[in-house]
Amino acid sequence: MKGIILAGGLGTRLYPLTYVTNKHLLPVYDKPMIFYPIQTLVKAGITDILIVTSGPHVGHFLGVLKNGKELGVRHLEYAYQEKPNGGIADALSLAEDFADGENITVILGDNTTDADITCSINKFKDGAVVFLKKVSDPKRYGVAVFDSKDPEKISKIEEKPKNPKSDFAVTGLYIYDFHVFEYIKRCDPNFIGRGELEITEVNNYYIKEGKLRWENLDGFWSDAGTFDSLYQATDYWSQKKG
Ligand code: DAU
Repeated sequence: MKGIILAGGLGTRLYPLTYVTNKHLLPVYDKPMIFYPIQTLVKAGITDILIVTSGPHVGHFLGVLKNGKELGVRHLEYAYQEKPNGGIADALSLAEDFADGENITVILGDNTTDADITCSINKFKDGAVVFLKKVSDPKRYGVAVFDSKDPEKISKIEEKPKNPKSDFAVTGLYIYDFHVFEYIKRCDPNFIGRGELEITEVNNYYIKEGKLRWENLDGFWSDAGTFDSLYQATDYWSQKKG
Protein backbone atom coordinates (compact mmCIF):
# COMPACT_ATOMS: atom_id res chain seq x y z
CA MET A 1 0.00 0.00 0.00
CA LYS A 2 1.06 3.62 -0.52
CA GLY A 3 1.14 6.24 2.23
CA ILE A 4 0.23 9.90 2.24
CA ILE A 5 1.13 12.46 4.89
CA LEU A 6 -0.79 15.71 4.87
CA ALA A 7 1.44 18.53 6.00
CA GLY A 8 -0.15 21.62 4.50
CA GLY A 9 -2.07 24.36 6.32
CA LEU A 10 -0.53 27.45 7.86
CA GLY A 11 -0.26 26.33 11.48
CA THR A 12 -1.79 29.62 12.66
CA ARG A 13 -2.60 28.14 16.06
CA LEU A 14 1.15 27.89 16.65
CA TYR A 15 2.08 31.48 15.73
CA PRO A 16 4.73 32.82 16.34
CA LEU A 17 6.54 29.43 16.10
CA THR A 18 5.24 28.82 12.59
CA TYR A 19 6.70 32.13 11.38
CA VAL A 20 10.03 30.30 11.71
CA THR A 21 9.22 27.12 9.82
CA ASN A 22 6.42 24.80 8.76
CA LYS A 23 4.45 23.37 11.72
CA HIS A 24 5.41 19.81 10.81
CA LEU A 25 9.11 20.54 11.15
CA LEU A 26 8.83 21.90 14.71
CA PRO A 27 10.33 19.65 17.38
CA VAL A 28 8.31 17.06 19.24
CA TYR A 29 10.92 16.17 21.86
CA ASP A 30 13.98 15.09 19.85
CA LYS A 31 12.57 14.89 16.32
CA PRO A 32 10.77 17.07 13.81
CA MET A 33 6.99 16.44 14.11
CA ILE A 34 6.74 14.84 10.64
CA PHE A 35 9.18 12.05 11.59
CA TYR A 36 6.42 10.49 13.73
CA PRO A 37 3.84 9.86 10.96
CA ILE A 38 6.65 8.75 8.67
CA GLN A 39 7.77 6.22 11.29
CA THR A 40 4.19 4.99 11.77
CA LEU A 41 3.99 4.26 8.03
CA VAL A 42 7.45 2.71 7.76
CA LYS A 43 6.75 0.49 10.82
CA ALA A 44 3.64 -0.74 8.99
CA GLY A 45 5.71 -1.60 5.92
CA ILE A 46 4.72 1.44 3.84
CA THR A 47 7.80 2.94 2.23
CA ASP A 48 6.28 4.59 -0.84
CA ILE A 49 5.19 7.95 0.56
CA LEU A 50 3.79 11.27 -0.69
CA ILE A 51 4.00 14.37 1.49
CA VAL A 52 1.52 17.13 0.65
CA THR A 53 2.59 20.50 1.95
CA SER A 54 2.09 24.24 1.46
CA GLY A 55 2.82 27.65 2.92
CA PRO A 56 5.88 29.88 3.01
CA HIS A 57 8.41 27.31 4.31
CA VAL A 58 7.88 24.38 1.95
CA GLY A 59 11.55 24.35 0.91
CA HIS A 60 12.57 23.40 4.46
CA PHE A 61 11.20 19.85 4.00
CA LEU A 62 13.87 18.87 1.49
CA GLY A 63 16.65 20.01 3.81
CA VAL A 64 15.26 17.91 6.67
CA LEU A 65 13.94 14.78 4.93
CA LYS A 66 16.09 14.76 1.79
CA ASN A 67 15.06 11.64 -0.14
CA GLY A 68 13.74 9.90 2.98
CA LYS A 69 16.31 7.08 2.95
CA GLU A 70 17.61 7.89 6.47
CA LEU A 71 14.08 7.22 7.76
CA GLY A 72 13.61 3.98 5.84
CA VAL A 73 11.53 5.51 3.03
CA ARG A 74 12.17 3.84 -0.32
CA HIS A 75 10.40 6.40 -2.49
CA LEU A 76 9.50 9.92 -1.32
CA GLU A 77 7.43 12.40 -3.32
CA TYR A 78 6.18 15.88 -2.53
CA ALA A 79 3.05 17.70 -3.68
CA TYR A 80 2.24 21.39 -3.22
CA GLN A 81 -1.22 22.50 -2.02
CA GLU A 82 -1.85 25.85 -3.68
CA LYS A 83 -4.54 26.99 -1.24
CA PRO A 84 -2.66 26.44 2.03
CA ASN A 85 -5.87 26.29 4.08
CA GLY A 86 -8.01 24.53 1.48
CA GLY A 87 -8.69 21.78 3.98
CA ILE A 88 -7.54 18.24 4.66
CA ALA A 89 -9.64 16.77 1.82
CA ASP A 90 -8.29 19.41 -0.58
CA ALA A 91 -4.74 18.39 0.37
CA LEU A 92 -5.61 14.72 -0.13
CA SER A 93 -7.05 15.41 -3.60
CA LEU A 94 -3.47 16.09 -4.74
CA ALA A 95 -2.62 12.43 -4.11
CA GLU A 96 -4.92 11.04 -6.80
CA ASP A 97 -2.20 10.46 -9.43
CA PHE A 98 0.24 9.14 -6.82
CA ALA A 99 -2.36 6.63 -5.54
CA ASP A 100 -3.01 5.49 -9.11
CA GLY A 101 -6.13 3.49 -8.17
CA GLU A 102 -4.51 1.69 -5.20
CA ASN A 103 -5.62 1.67 -1.56
CA ILE A 104 -3.92 4.31 0.59
CA THR A 105 -3.08 4.97 4.22
CA VAL A 106 -3.33 8.66 5.13
CA ILE A 107 -1.89 10.31 8.24
CA LEU A 108 -2.18 13.95 9.26
CA GLY A 109 1.30 15.43 9.62
CA ASP A 110 0.66 16.73 13.14
CA ASN A 111 -0.53 13.39 14.56
CA THR A 112 1.88 11.35 16.67
CA THR A 113 1.16 7.84 17.88
CA ASP A 114 3.00 4.73 18.97
CA ALA A 115 0.14 2.51 17.77
CA ASP A 116 1.02 -0.23 15.30
CA ILE A 117 -1.52 -0.24 12.45
CA THR A 118 0.18 -3.00 10.43
CA CYS A 119 -2.65 -5.54 10.92
CA SER A 120 -5.34 -3.02 9.93
CA ILE A 121 -3.41 -2.20 6.77
CA ASN A 122 -2.72 -5.83 5.90
CA LYS A 123 -6.35 -6.91 6.22
CA PHE A 124 -7.81 -3.85 4.44
CA LYS A 125 -9.64 -4.66 1.20
CA ASP A 126 -12.04 -1.83 0.38
CA GLY A 127 -14.12 1.02 1.80
CA ALA A 128 -12.56 3.08 4.58
CA VAL A 129 -11.21 2.56 8.09
CA VAL A 130 -11.03 5.28 10.75
CA PHE A 131 -9.24 4.93 14.08
CA LEU A 132 -10.97 6.16 17.23
CA LYS A 133 -9.53 7.32 20.53
CA LYS A 134 -11.41 8.26 23.70
CA VAL A 135 -10.58 11.88 24.60
CA SER A 136 -11.47 14.33 27.34
CA ASP A 137 -12.08 17.27 24.96
CA PRO A 138 -14.06 15.87 21.99
CA LYS A 139 -15.19 19.34 20.82
CA ARG A 140 -11.73 19.81 19.20
CA TYR A 141 -12.12 16.84 16.85
CA GLY A 142 -14.22 14.90 14.43
CA VAL A 143 -16.46 12.91 16.77
CA ALA A 144 -18.11 9.52 16.14
CA VAL A 145 -21.88 9.31 16.66
CA PHE A 146 -22.91 5.70 17.31
CA ASP A 147 -26.12 4.15 16.02
CA SER A 148 -28.68 3.98 18.86
CA LYS A 149 -29.82 0.51 17.67
CA ASP A 150 -26.32 -0.84 16.99
CA PRO A 151 -23.72 0.80 19.24
CA GLU A 152 -20.93 -0.90 17.28
CA LYS A 153 -21.85 1.10 14.19
CA ILE A 154 -21.01 4.74 13.47
CA SER A 155 -24.10 6.49 12.09
CA LYS A 156 -22.26 9.75 11.35
CA ILE A 157 -19.20 11.80 12.22
CA GLU A 158 -19.59 15.39 13.41
CA GLU A 159 -16.71 17.85 12.96
CA LYS A 160 -15.96 19.91 16.06
CA PRO A 161 -19.48 19.58 17.51
CA LYS A 162 -20.62 22.03 20.21
CA ASN A 163 -22.41 19.16 21.98
CA PRO A 164 -20.44 15.99 21.23
CA LYS A 165 -22.55 12.82 21.21
CA SER A 166 -19.62 10.64 22.28
CA ASP A 167 -16.09 10.96 23.68
CA PHE A 168 -14.57 9.18 20.70
CA ALA A 169 -12.40 11.36 18.49
CA VAL A 170 -11.70 10.31 14.93
CA THR A 171 -7.91 10.44 14.85
CA GLY A 172 -5.94 11.64 11.85
CA LEU A 173 -5.13 8.16 10.54
CA TYR A 174 -7.29 6.74 7.75
CA ILE A 175 -7.24 3.89 5.26
CA TYR A 176 -9.14 4.45 2.00
CA ASP A 177 -9.88 2.74 -1.27
CA PHE A 178 -9.85 4.66 -4.58
CA HIS A 179 -13.41 5.96 -4.07
CA VAL A 180 -11.98 8.58 -1.73
CA PHE A 181 -11.14 10.82 -4.69
CA GLU A 182 -14.72 10.71 -6.04
CA TYR A 183 -16.05 11.70 -2.61
CA ILE A 184 -13.58 14.57 -2.30
CA LYS A 185 -14.93 15.98 -5.58
CA ARG A 186 -18.41 16.08 -3.99
CA CYS A 187 -17.23 17.99 -0.88
CA ASP A 188 -18.73 21.37 -0.05
CA PRO A 189 -16.34 24.01 1.37
CA ASN A 190 -19.18 25.18 3.61
CA PHE A 191 -19.69 21.77 5.24
CA ILE A 192 -19.03 23.32 8.65
CA GLY A 193 -18.69 26.89 7.42
CA ARG A 194 -14.90 27.36 7.57
CA GLY A 195 -14.30 27.32 3.82
CA GLU A 196 -12.32 24.06 3.88
CA LEU A 197 -12.90 20.67 2.25
CA GLU A 198 -13.36 18.53 5.34
CA ILE A 199 -12.15 14.93 5.68
CA THR A 200 -15.18 14.39 7.93
CA GLU A 201 -17.49 14.99 4.96
CA VAL A 202 -15.52 12.38 2.99
CA ASN A 203 -15.88 9.90 5.87
CA ASN A 204 -19.62 10.58 6.00
CA TYR A 205 -19.90 9.63 2.31
CA TYR A 206 -18.35 6.27 3.18
CA ILE A 207 -20.86 5.89 6.05
CA LYS A 208 -23.77 6.58 3.67
CA GLU A 209 -22.49 3.81 1.38
CA GLY A 210 -22.17 1.45 4.38
CA LYS A 211 -18.44 1.25 3.72
CA LEU A 212 -16.86 2.80 6.80
CA ARG A 213 -15.39 0.60 9.54
CA TRP A 214 -13.70 1.71 12.72
CA GLU A 215 -11.05 0.41 15.06
CA ASN A 216 -9.65 1.61 18.36
CA LEU A 217 -6.22 3.13 18.13
CA ASP A 218 -4.24 1.26 20.79
CA GLY A 219 -1.46 3.21 22.45
CA PHE A 220 -0.62 6.86 22.80
CA TRP A 221 -2.10 9.33 20.32
CA SER A 222 -2.05 13.10 20.19
CA ASP A 223 -2.10 15.80 17.59
CA ALA A 224 0.48 18.53 18.08
CA GLY A 225 -1.22 21.47 16.42
CA THR A 226 -1.86 23.61 19.51
CA PHE A 227 0.53 24.69 22.26
CA ASP A 228 -1.12 22.34 24.76
CA SER A 229 -1.12 19.30 22.47
CA LEU A 230 2.43 20.02 21.28
CA TYR A 231 3.50 20.11 24.91
CA GLN A 232 1.57 16.91 25.71
CA ALA A 233 3.11 15.05 22.77
CA THR A 234 6.62 16.28 23.64
CA ASP A 235 6.15 15.21 27.26
CA TYR A 236 4.96 11.73 26.24
CA TRP A 237 7.82 11.05 23.83
CA SER A 238 10.46 12.39 26.22
CA GLN A 239 9.21 10.09 29.01
CA LYS A 240 8.95 7.13 26.65
CA LYS A 241 12.54 7.61 25.59
CA GLY A 242 13.82 8.61 29.03
O1 DAU B 1 -6.14 15.35 14.66
C1 DAU B 1 -7.36 14.78 14.34
C2 DAU B 1 -8.34 15.81 13.81
O2 DAU B 1 -7.72 16.45 12.68
C3 DAU B 1 -9.67 15.14 13.39
O3 DAU B 1 -10.36 14.66 14.54
C4 DAU B 1 -10.57 16.11 12.66
O4 DAU B 1 -11.70 15.44 12.18
C5 DAU B 1 -9.82 16.74 11.48
O5 DAU B 1 -10.60 17.70 10.85
C6 DAU B 1 -8.53 17.39 11.96
O6 DAU B 1 -8.87 18.49 12.77
P1 DAU B 1 -7.89 19.75 13.01
O7 DAU B 1 -8.70 20.97 13.21
O8 DAU B 1 -6.96 19.39 14.10
O9 DAU B 1 -7.13 19.84 11.63
P2 DAU B 1 -6.02 20.92 11.20
O10 DAU B 1 -6.67 22.02 10.46
O11 DAU B 1 -5.16 21.27 12.38
O12 DAU B 1 -5.15 20.06 10.18
C7 DAU B 1 -4.50 18.88 10.59
C8 DAU B 1 -3.41 18.56 9.59
O13 DAU B 1 -3.95 18.39 8.28
C9 DAU B 1 -2.34 19.61 9.48
O14 DAU B 1 -1.31 19.37 10.43
C10 DAU B 1 -1.86 19.50 8.05
C11 DAU B 1 -3.07 18.92 7.30
N1 DAU B 1 -3.74 19.97 6.48
C12 DAU B 1 -4.68 20.77 7.05
C13 DAU B 1 -5.30 21.75 6.28
C14 DAU B 1 -6.36 22.64 6.87
C15 DAU B 1 -3.36 20.11 5.15
O15 DAU B 1 -2.47 19.38 4.67
N2 DAU B 1 -3.97 21.09 4.41
C16 DAU B 1 -4.92 21.91 4.91
O16 DAU B 1 -5.46 22.76 4.15
